[in-house]
Amino acid sequence: MRAVVLTAFGGPEVLSIQEVPLPVPGPEEVRIRVWATALNRADLLEREGRYPPPGNRPAYQIPGLEVSGVVDQIGERVSLFAPGDRVMALLSGQGYAEYVVATERMVMPVPDQMKLEHAAAIPEAYLTAFDALYEQGSAYPSAGVLIHAGASGVGTAAIQLAKQGNMSVITTVGSDEKVKRVRALGADCVVNYRESSFVSVVQEWTHHQGVSVVLDFVGQQYFEDNLRCLSPDGTMVLIGTLSGSRASIDLGLVLARRLRIQGTALRSRPSERKVALVQRFLREAWPLFQSQAIHPVVDRVYRLDKIQEAHRYMASNHNIGKIVIHIYSQEV
Ligand SMILES: NC(=O)c1ccc[n+]([C@@H]2O[C@H](COP(=O)([O-])OP(=O)(O)OC[C@H]3O[C@@H](n4cnc5c(N)ncnc54)[C@H](OP(=O)(O)O)[C@@H]3O)[C@@H](O)[C@H]2O)c1
Repeated sequence: MRAVVLTAFGGPEVLSIQEVPLPVPGPEEVRIRVWATALNRADLLEREGRYPPPGNRPAYQIPGLEVSGVVDQIGERVSLFAPGDRVMALLSGQGYAEYVVATERMVMPVPDQMKLEHAAAIPEAYLTAFDALYEQGSAYPSAGVLIHAGASGVGTAAIQLAKQGNMSVITTVGSDEKVKRVRALGADCVVNYRESSFVSVVQEWTHHQGVSVVLDFVGQQYFEDNLRCLSPDGTMVLIGTLSGSRASIDLGLVLARRLRIQGTALRSRPSERKVALVQRFLREAWPLFQSQAIHPVVDRVYRLDKIQEAHRYMASNHNIGKIVIHIYSQEV
């Protein structure tokens, strides 16, 4: 099969397509003929050699944390899926390939009306957002939530999930075009951080009460400002460190307001915890796709042989939502 294999680390030019052996499903795994995969910011770090896959180094290091496609073969103990099923799956890697194996309990059916190329944009972004809001952030209906990088893959998912959960959403983005797009997704208040201070806007918008939850991807540059946006007993969920990972903060803020700082990483989490998350997501969030109350936001679709261009586009920070990579050329 064809796959993008990392044989060296560096810029997008290290991404090359090679022939590699077809993976064989274990007893509790399904093999998926991949229709599409989607990019995640972590793929750029992995390409640079700064985000190795968890566990033992695979024989072929293939990036790719999520796919959609059709079940092609099943292990002997698989009971939830059968060959021919349209599925999407959360992976720890190996997704930029024509075939991939996945633990059956991390595989989800594709909602009835959804195209496979849209389904590929769901697992990593939506599971991360769902987990950050509910499991890590303990968000609840009516809570005020500040979501940074609102136009990112994870941000567009988090805004929609939070609105479905009846939360008040304030979000930050870096351009006027992004302001328009995240408003259309339901954000109640949008800050272009290049023009205004998000701390002042949050204070004004919440009448100086602050928000209960902050979902942060920026890290270093926003750390203390995020704490200033939280109400007493609030939680900041640290999901990414786009601006750097070192911060100096006033610990007095944490103490006096009884704040919680919760870090999260989905990929390296033990398998059984990821399975529990996927199963909760299937019960609570998946029906919202089926009823079309929420949708994956797909910015562009590239063919696999344009993978270098796709990585450059993500690095430019221009994408609104997800960048999908089309692997097969016939719709299923
Ligand atoms: N912890 C986990 O398990 C987990 C899982 C998935 C993703 N993530 C993290 O979630 C974040 C989003 O991932 P994604 O794949 O959705 O990303 P994405 O679609 O590439 O979007 C990232 C956006 O963040 C904004 N940004 C970049 N650098 C920034 C900076 N220094 N300051 C402020 N904003 C900045 C840019 O939008 P603007 O133009 O609006 O600035 C950029 O388009 C990444 O940090 C990723 O590593 C973490």
